[in-house]
Amino acid sequence: MEFMDVVRQRLCIREYAGLPVDEATMNRLVSAAEDAPCAANLRPWAIGMLLDRARIESYGQRAQKWLLNHFAQVSHDVAARQMLEDEDYSMFQNAPALTLIMARASDAQSIEDCCLAAENFILAAQDLGLQALWTGICRPWLNHPAVKKELGIPKSFQVIAPIVLGYPATAQAPAASKSRGVKMADDPVGAKRGSTSAASLGRLAYS
Ligand SMILES: Cc1cc2nc3c(=O)[nH]c(=O)nc-3n(C[C@H](O)[C@H](O)[C@H](O)COP(=O)(O)O)c2cc1C
Repeated sequence: MEFMDVVRQRLCIREYAGLPVDEATMNRLVSAAEDAPCAANLRPWAIGMLLDRARIESYGQRAQKWLLNHFAQVSHDVAARQMLEDEDYSMFQNAPALTLIMARASDAQSIEDCCLAAENFILAAQDLGLQALWTGICRPWLNHPAVKKELGIPKSFQVIAPIVLGYPATAQAPAASKSRGVKMADDPVGAKRGSTSAASLGRLAYS
């Protein structure tokens, strides 16, 4: 697929077909993630994968329960709380695969690096006909010391991007563009404020 089509057609779906994702495919996606640019070429990530639907689902249920019991400590997002309270809510949507992109906490900008790796992973999944869903809500549970120990995540790493994926249950309609387009400003923002650096900005484009 053309790269721009991959970008345009990517869309989060939350219903997966029964088809498993094989290890070779996961390795291709992990390899795409690891090709992301990173600060000072430190490659400060570790990427784990789990290909066991039942275990993934049970982690989702445990995370949901834990988050509801500790909600005030981890979030103030009312909508997230309502979502967790919904008895039909399934955190990992019965997905056949889960990937954790983890950052080495001691490296400056490791979080940014992991976000770029995650985007590569998600777009590569789209290119291979898979659907990937970044499921950030479970992060506080995954980063709890007891859970990290259980999953074998080293203390020096933190989970940044938990991503579930699988083949979509239904054919995907092409997504409409979410871009608002770019408009040229009449005056650079800095010029209006009389900033001395405004001249170097030239004309500012914004969306
Ligand atoms: C950092 C991040 C965290 C996210 N966490 C969740 C999540 O916990 N649960 C979920 O269903 N979707 C999650 N998403 C997916 C977003 O809800 C989704 O990307 C957004 O609604 C836009 O929809 P689209 O991806 O289909 O364009 C997350 C996305 C990002 C980038």
